[in-house]
Amino acid sequence: MIRINENYLKLTSSYLFAEIARRVAAFQKENPQKEIIRLGIGDVTRPLPKACVEAFRKAAAEMGEADGFRGYGPEQGYAFLRELIAKNDFETRGADVSADEIFVSDGAKCDTGNIQELFAPDVTVAVPDPVYPVYVDTNVMAGRTDKSVDGRYQGLVYLDGTMGNGFVPPPPNGHVDLIYLCYPNNPTGAVATKAQLRAWVDYASAEKALILFDAAYEAFITDPSIPHSIYEIDGAREVAIEFRSFSKTAGFTGTRCAFTVVPKSCIAYDAAGNSHPLHALWNRRHTTKFNGVSYPVQRAAEAIYIEEGPAQVRESIDYYMANAKLVKEKMGALGYKCTGGVNAPYIWIECGGDSWKFFDTLLNAGVVCTPGAGFGKCGEGFIRLSAFNSRENVEKALEKIGAAVKK
Ligand code: MLT
Repeated sequence: MIRINENYLKLTSSYLFAEIARRVAAFQKENPQKEIIRLGIGDVTRPLPKACVEAFRKAAAEMGEADGFRGYGPEQGYAFLRELIAKNDFETRGADVSADEIFVSDGAKCDTGNIQELFAPDVTVAVPDPVYPVYVDTNVMAGRTDKSVDGRYQGLVYLDGTMGNGFVPPPPNGHVDLIYLCYPNNPTGAVATKAQLRAWVDYASAEKALILFDAAYEAFITDPSIPHSIYEIDGAREVAIEFRSFSKTAGFTGTRCAFTVVPKSCIAYDAAGNSHPLHALWNRRHTTKFNGVSYPVQRAAEAIYIEEGPAQVRESIDYYMANAKLVKEKMGALGYKCTGGVNAPYIWIECGGDSWKFFDTLLNAGVVCTPGAGFGKCGEGFIRLSAFNSRENVEKALEKIGAAVKK
């Protein structure tokens, strides 16, 4: 008899953004005339930078010529892209990352979801709350938790993010083995200072633990004192893996390209206490289960770093951040306490009460948000608005919200 992985039965709901899409589709079916503005899932709306499109087109044309055609590429990514990443994203910030420590992939969602395969089933996992649900759900699927009780999976260590700690929870008092951190944070938009990251690196070193650092939103940092990479902190190369993405940075949500950094000095242990480099393990997994990002997509990603690319990418980021400023100002003027929106494209808004109910209120007004409860127990009483839309739609959405909450 073929049997299922019963860990899937522990999952308490559908994937958050699938659930939101389902509710929005049902509402649209009932209200076909209603205009809906989406500030829910963080999906970009501006077109790809022209430099990326041109590189994409050129590379696709090369693939149609006998002397330009390429079959399987290196699973880890082409050197032309990995070298640019190492130089521009790390070397310029004083972070020691070499090109062969970079694994190009088709998304940070997949990488942050897949990485847990490298670790023992019984490691203790800590996640911040609120949290990007992928970190939690993939560990539930892998059997590292028991069932959910009162909104929390038993066996996971939740690190409470609150207005009080600025949604940057400190390391726990007790021991954990694996820690997920995301800065700039999805969903709260909070950022961690060097001192706060240092505390985590020190904790991981002392506890022989590992940090999984999701920096998918680093390009949105505006405060020059905030680190963009965990490798800006001494000692992080031994205790941290970092995830990056071109999705939000350069409009690649539909194009798919990201990368994960696994330093060669980053280690984990077997049951006997012997250390093993995670680079070799991730390389083994990557080469076994992944055949690389397509050549044209990697050429499009290369264009982000060269010639006209950086300025075009910057223009889009600035555009979204101007939206974020508008959202934050308007929600503040409506009397809501907000965080984020300064170093991140998300604004985290204290709505009070049931966040799914507030989601419904806004949906009735024609605006999609993300209810904070979908990100964990500490997210209840909050909603997240995304800055990824046109200026016109953001302004229209804010008017709709203003009218809906005044009623
Ligand atoms: C979000 O809205 O949180 C993100 O778009 C999800 C993702 O990047 O997978």
